[in-house]
Amino acid sequence: TNNFLRHVESMKLLPSGAGHISHLNAVILGESLATEEDDFVLPSQDFASKANVQSPEQYLKMYKRSIEDPAGFWSDIASEFYWKQRWGNKVCDENFDVRKGNIKIEWFKGGITNICYNCLDRNVEAGLGDKIAIYWEGNEPGLDGTLTYSQLLQQVCQVANYLKDIGVKKGDAVIIYLPMLMELPIAMLACARIGAVHSVVFAGFSAESLAQRIIDCKPKAVITCNAVKRGSKAIHLKDIVDAAINDSAQNGVSIDVCLVYENLLALKREATKWKEGRDIWWQDVIPKYPTTCSVDWVDAEDPLFLLYTSGSTGKPKGVLHTTGGYMVYTATTFKYAFDYKPSDIYWCTADCGWITGHSYVTYGPMLNGATVVVYEGAPNYPDSGRCWDIVDKYKVTIFYTAPTLVRSLMRDGDAFVTCYSRKSLRVLGSVGEPINPSAWRWFYNVVGDSRCPISDTWWQTETGGFMITPLPGAWPQKPGSATFPFFGVQPVIVDEKGVEIEGECSGYLCIKNSWPGAFRTLYGDHERYETTYFKPFSGYYFSGDGCSRDKDGYHWLTGRVDDVINVSGHRIGTAEVESALVSHPQCAEAAVVGVEHEVKGQGIYAFVTVVDGVPYSEELRKDLVLAVRKQIGAFAAPDKIHWAPGLPKTRSGKIMRRILRKIASKQLDELGDTSTLADPNVVNQLIELSDS
Ligand code: WTA
Repeated sequence: TNNFLRHVESMKLLPSGAGHISHLNAVILGESLATEEDDFVLPSQDFASKANVQSPEQYLKMYKRSIEDPAGFWSDIASEFYWKQRWGNKVCDENFDVRKGNIKIEWFKGGITNICYNCLDRNVEAGLGDKIAIYWEGNEPGLDGTLTYSQLLQQVCQVANYLKDIGVKKGDAVIIYLPMLMELPIAMLACARIGAVHSVVFAGFSAESLAQRIIDCKPKAVITCNAVKRGSKAIHLKDIVDAAINDSAQNGVSIDVCLVYENLLALKREATKWKEGRDIWWQDVIPKYPTTCSVDWVDAEDPLFLLYTSGSTGKPKGVLHTTGGYMVYTATTFKYAFDYKPSDIYWCTADCGWITGHSYVTYGPMLNGATVVVYEGAPNYPDSGRCWDIVDKYKVTIFYTAPTLVRSLMRDGDAFVTCYSRKSLRVLGSVGEPINPSAWRWFYNVVGDSRCPISDTWWQTETGGFMITPLPGAWPQKPGSATFPFFGVQPVIVDEKGVEIEGECSGYLCIKNSWPGAFRTLYGDHERYETTYFKPFSGYYFSGDGCSRDKDGYHWLTGRVDDVINVSGHRIGTAEVESALVSHPQCAEAAVVGVEHEVKGQGIYAFVTVVDGVPYSEELRKDLVLAVRKQIGAFAAPDKIHWAPGLPKTRSGKIMRRILRKIASKQLDELGDTSTLADPNVVNQLIELSDS
């Protein structure tokens, strides 16, 4: 009864099947170098023969089992980890259908474990103590450091002991606001070790955004550093934290402890503003604690972390992930989607402030005992060759990044790439937004020398791990397609009525039944969880993305279908940007849409109606952009402010964004029916003001 399974079976993927798959197998076996044929890009025979999953048939066999016997499939994998006590008799207990009651997802309930133990102690005990866990590369070339698995464990224990000492207990929240120093994954793992719930806030968020998150989760402590260098500029993070803590205090949430890492190269201790009694230097206390720390064992369904993400309306949502299922899922997806081998050196360019840094900088790789490169700086500092310099320096074999970086490096020219060897690379990965076929081909041909398969991984903060992704040795790839579902994932494409569509089609991407890495709720708001994700199409998890499936069953993500925009792979809710704009006293109303952007994927385009009598000026434009930087962060700053004497609204007052999107992208002949507008004339006014 699984549509996807029926679909792949009907599309010649079975071993006995004739048609293109046998043709492809012939090509795979006959060619040592990848070739492009019928838009397919094939892994080399050499790659496929050593891969963890080597053929479509092998994938299909495993996939079938994962769907037909999820309990058996996932408990076999889970058994490879350490459980203090095995889970109860139900591997998965779920209700995915709002019509049958509250949504509930539980995996391995009753199982007692600890993810930090599984990332560190288990690997050290297995003899990986001297293996490099982290290669840290600083913003300034030449500045670096390493930690073996044993050293990492010791440092994590020291921080865990400190947190316990200041009274952080199982279930307490801790906010981490750090750049990509080693201390960031260390702090995450330390929380996990004692059962505390970390909430990492990307260090590009403003004080107001940080305050919002502090107020929502009421942490026992905030962990930060005094400053960070971005490119050649120093940013005083501690000042931002101070402002956020003050703001929270005014909203009734006080912070007693702020642990501050002294980032000497960015700012000296003496120059850091300080609040005695509350602030404490990391370097003054952490080294004094013992390097061993007992583990707080937790239930598989105890919370592991909260990560705030943008939705189409309202304030950011606290996506809550629990321990056991997330552990099993991130480890497994990492292993298969990147064809991970113990000899790999893995580098993911994402920041731990986003889900990618949680699942695929910290947990997924470390659960596999992998060596991870953590890079502090900007990918084009001091020049556009930095990434490949780092790849060569550490002999990186798996390189995982976002399409926006690929496009920006592509624009800077091949010479920055080709002057480095890159011969260590064997797998490339992409995440965050659809990768356009031309960027895909550049990544493949130029960066990977037409040798490395690309895993274009589709997933979300909510899904915890990869959902639709190539398995690099198994699949012929198509540039721009995320290909097929991961084990245990049942993607369906539905029409606006929620009816599943089969075969070649396009529509809304939903998921049927749960998978171990799924989020369990929105912190403090289970109702919003149900309304946002499970009510739009009863019986399914609704992703918010559009998707089409081609004649060969490949999935092509087409972007968000809600009011969320994706700027350089960062999710931004249009409502949040609008609310920041209207907080400016001279802004009466604002409507924000996404427009295509050559490098960022989407750019932020804001229509702004000013308060009566206020003249349009460059200064006001700058001020409005500043308001957004202040309330959300620099990464959410609008690319364009378009003056709007009025906004196109229906008679019931609803803003017609469809029309605004067309105006923003200058597709004026596609405005469609404007007769239902309360005042059709506003459209002409907007067009006239397009270039002012
Ligand atoms: C988009 C990031 C196409 C998508 C892991 C999704 C993608 C949102 C891809 C989630 C991809 C992510 N192809 N689109 N490979 N990966 N997206 O929560 O719109 O920051 O809904 O998680 O990014 O963004 P989030």
